[in-house]
Amino acid sequence: MSDAPAKKEERRKFQAIRGTRDLLPPETELWNRVEQTAHEVFATFGFGEIRVPIFEPTDLFAHAVGSETDIVSKEMFAFLDQPDLSDLENARNAVKAVNPGIGAQGKHELFELYVSNFITEVQKHVATQDINLPRRAQSDFDTIQDRFRDLLNLPDINDEDTNNRRSHLTFEIVIKVDLLRFGESISLRPEATASVCRAYIEHNMLQLPQPVKLYYVGPMFRRERPQKGRYRQFYQIGAEILGGTDAPAIDAEVIEMLMTYFDRVGLQGATLYINSIGHNADNCRRGYVANLKSALEKVKDKLGPDSQRRIDTNPLRVLDSKLESEQAIIATLPHIADHLCDECKTHYAEVKRQLQVRGVLYQENWRLVRGLDYYMRTTFEITAPGLGSQNAVCGGGRYDGLVELLGGPPTKGIGFAIGEDRLILSLQESGKGQAQQGRDVYIAWMGEKAYATAIRAAKDLRNAGFSVELPPLEQKFGKALGQADKLGAKYALILGDNEVSEGLWTLKTLSTGEQAKLPEPELLQFLRDQKPKSQ
Ligand code: HAM
Repeated sequence: MSDAPAKKEERRKFQAIRGTRDLLPPETELWNRVEQTAHEVFATFGFGEIRVPIFEPTDLFAHAVGSETDIVSKEMFAFLDQPDLSDLENARNAVKAVNPGIGAQGKHELFELYVSNFITEVQKHVATQDINLPRRAQSDFDTIQDRFRDLLNLPDINDEDTNNRRSHLTFEIVIKVDLLRFGESISLRPEATASVCRAYIEHNMLQLPQPVKLYYVGPMFRRERPQKGRYRQFYQIGAEILGGTDAPAIDAEVIEMLMTYFDRVGLQGATLYINSIGHNADNCRRGYVANLKSALEKVKDKLGPDSQRRIDTNPLRVLDSKLESEQAIIATLPHIADHLCDECKTHYAEVKRQLQVRGVLYQENWRLVRGLDYYMRTTFEITAPGLGSQNAVCGGGRYDGLVELLGGPPTKGIGFAIGEDRLILSLQESGKGQAQQGRDVYIAWMGEKAYATAIRAAKDLRNAGFSVELPPLEQKFGKALGQADKLGAKYALILGDNEVSEGLWTLKTLSTGEQAKLPEPELLQFLRDQKPKSQ
């Protein structure tokens, strides 16, 4: 039995969280098509699918993406994965509850007992590996034990100095006990390159023939300000090539694959921008950054607060600024192309030549530095029309050194991630995103005998790959045909007692109103012949 209808406000209470959304049919058909095309195209380039976890240790992203980046410093959904250890929490609460305060002589013995108990509990759980103490927690725990030792070693006298010292130690112990956190900080993945590199190391993929080519499809999470094309849960289709050589042909081929894919899904008006940001050496990017920094210092007061801050934290990112008032100033800044070392210059020139050989059109953009720290040499981005200000539909680049940074061997790497939400938006805006709604066949049946036949017909048609709607209740034919129209069905199969006893079924083409009476096998064959080959 259902409860009494809830009040209006109560019924409206739950909504998708800001920046997240439900994807509904028929739009999800388009999502499936876009994903299916990725599976197909990427397979032709020798890529295999990898599925990595939705959450990972926060440190992984901080290390890989960079702790100063917007993604890590502002946008991660991080939480403490805290074990539920009630005995330990009781021990913690006991220490806090019996905090003796200043001069409360009588409570000290009890306090010491509880602190000692708390320390033993922590040690017990660390030994059984119920908890692990991250670096900061370990240092806090060491402090608790040190201060507790000092407290026990205090002389048993009641003068002012000793009492003050006791109060200080007690105070410090209570604070540290209160703040000590055992869990590990975990984050919803803001991107997947870090996870793929972690998996490459963890599964010793270095043993496989190199390079290893992997791709992924799935949701990512960033706490960004939601707007058109920017969500807090969004989807990426990404690919990574790890290991082997850093030959420019790899860079060009991965970009070729991307453009082939965009072509296959029907994305129109995509523009590929490329750049090289060199490598981290004095005679290359580091030298350029120093140069850029001093150029920026000179125009500092003409820049907005974000760019001013970035002069110190990450000067390259100033080039990314979209602020109208800064554009003229940025145009006067030195270009990285003039500061690349010989190897990076040659690499970049060869990437461009290889793109031309492959017939891939590109535009160079010296300001394309990307917002993640792991890039070096080739960077690229693709924009698409119909997206407003969030028009980057894909970003990627080379990241030799990332695997090593995460504890693996020196390894070459390059990859990209497509923003699937934006790709879908752009397809829809250009009219390429129309998903097919509706059923192939609506079965209008009347009568018990006809129903049994209808069930069998539905089964046969579905097995043959048709989408079929079989109404659960008997309807008058007029009503059934109206329903078939509403659902966008192409055909109505009309089954009444007459049809069943004659063995001739009626098929109505709803767009034209034409009707034909056919024996069952011929009708099935007729429908099969109408169905486009791709289905
Ligand atoms: P990214 O540029 O941060 O790169 O993201 C790639 C794409 O994801 C963007 O171009 C955009 O289309 C989409 N995207 C990013 N944030 C949002 C959002 N809040 N809402 C909707 N779409 C968004 C990376 O993530 C790198 N891991 C790419 C890569 C792979 N580099 C090498 N390998």
